[in-house]
Amino acid sequence: MKNILFAASECVPFIKTGGLADVVGSLPKDFDREKYDVRVVIPKYTCMKQEWKDRMEYVTHFYMDIAGQDQYVGVLKTVLNDITFYFIDNEHYFGGFAPYDGDPKWEIEKFAFFSKAVLSILPVIGFRPDLIHCHDWQTGLIPVYLDNFRYLGEYYRGIKTIMTIHNLKFQGVWDTKTVRGITGLPEYYFVPDKMEAYKDANLLKGGIVYADKVTTVSNSYAEEIKTPFYGEGLDGLMSARSGDLCGIVNGLDYEDWNPATDNRIAKSFTIDDFRKNKPVNKTSLQEELGLEKDPKVMLIGMVSRLTDQKGFDLVDYIMDELCQDAVQIVVLGTGDVKYENMFRHFAWKYSGRVSANIYYSDELSHRIYASCDTFLMPSLFEPCGLSQLMSLRYGTLPIVRETGGLKDTVEPYNEFEKTGTGFSFCNYNAHEMLNTIRYAERIYYDKKRDWNKIVERAMSQDFSWKNSARQYEDLYRSLIGE
Ligand code: ADP
Ligand code: GLC
Repeated sequence: MKNILFAASECVPFIKTGGLADVVGSLPKDFDREKYDVRVVIPKYTCMKQEWKDRMEYVTHFYMDIAGQDQYVGVLKTVLNDITFYFIDNEHYFGGFAPYDGDPKWEIEKFAFFSKAVLSILPVIGFRPDLIHCHDWQTGLIPVYLDNFRYLGEYYRGIKTIMTIHNLKFQGVWDTKTVRGITGLPEYYFVPDKMEAYKDANLLKGGIVYADKVTTVSNSYAEEIKTPFYGEGLDGLMSARSGDLCGIVNGLDYEDWNPATDNRIAKSFTIDDFRKNKPVNKTSLQEELGLEKDPKVMLIGMVSRLTDQKGFDLVDYIMDELCQDAVQIVVLGTGDVKYENMFRHFAWKYSGRVSANIYYSDELSHRIYASCDTFLMPSLFEPCGLSQLMSLRYGTLPIVRETGGLKDTVEPYNEFEKTGTGFSFCNYNAHEMLNTIRYAERIYYDKKRDWNKIVERAMSQDFSWKNSARQYEDLYRSLIGE
């Protein structure tokens, strides 16, 4: 039996702001339980739902030095679906209204504390991982601290690490002097072939340099990040580490996201009865959101963080033109104020046809995936993307830009070969996107039989974790054996 510890800043069902939480919460369930004991450690945020906090039991506590101070480190745990989750408790760091509050220096201190704490709790929780699987910049310091901790004695030697990049845009960057002060790490680590990048300290870079293997969440993104356009300044490093870098596409929790059993939606449906039952969801959602009730109109959905990454400037550019067509649009998301207000504006201007829901709701997201005919995701870059996988699962055809994981998971419709599971366009161009949406409209309205065949193909895709979990197991095996 091999011990694996996932370390991350978010994880469903406890706390979620994006796809990272879905991955960290669902992937551990799909490993071979005979061979791997996979556990997860995340911060205990005050803003977690009370029902989850109530389930946590106290394990231990101690004090640890960080940012020149002695800080409380509490450890709690809970077991869910046979997986053990650990929570690191410190209200000074994790007491805010949300996991991230946008102050970069504070975020760095917070997650430096978390990363050091993850290693520090190991000897006292009775679980020594053979491998720590780190996710995103918030855990980038773990491989670095591990290198540093080797000098503390035998215990930490031989623990392997994997760094998975879910989004290279976020790296945890601040000036070297401050980060040295926070982390307490020696000057040795703050040089260009270690944690320093462009004169600053870069936590993700530290993780990438010191991890034994580096992965990202799709094959295309693994290639893209070796180029300047997608590399976010680290393309040289990604190329240098390309021998240890691979892409493993994300999967979905197929129990949680299942149109046949989903009790959050008005009417469950399957590949055999979606023609009859999927429209019931549409009219029910139209009623719920104050859209004109019409089972026939093409309903376009978006569920997303409202940021530049997701291509909303393209949407803004063509929204008036698109609203001349026979379509309805529903958005669920929060993020940049400019995009929040843009959607509020269009919902006011095209009342009854555009619905803007500027908040976070897991429940509503399920109903949107189930009810829409098509899902729009024109990302500028997309490491993997889970929303298009959720859409495919619910027979809602994705319209995507051909980038990263979107390119790897959505096969564009080919009307001659009768293949494909959605629609896609190549260039980051608003009218190329609009033309693709209009092409989808033509299929939807004029070739309904063909449309329904695409829905069947979409719904019969398998994006469960089955395949990808095996690939992670292979990677673990290459580092820690059987
Ligand atoms: P990213 O991680 O870049 O935000 P993904 O497509 O990988 O993009 O994952 C986004 C996840 O967050 C999906 O599960 C999506 O349904 C969910 N999500 C985003 N915004 C909201 C929201 N406002 N309410 C509910 N779920 C949301
Ligand atoms: C990031 C990426 C998204 C990916 C998710 C989970 O948030 O933006 O594309 O699906 O992580 O890996």
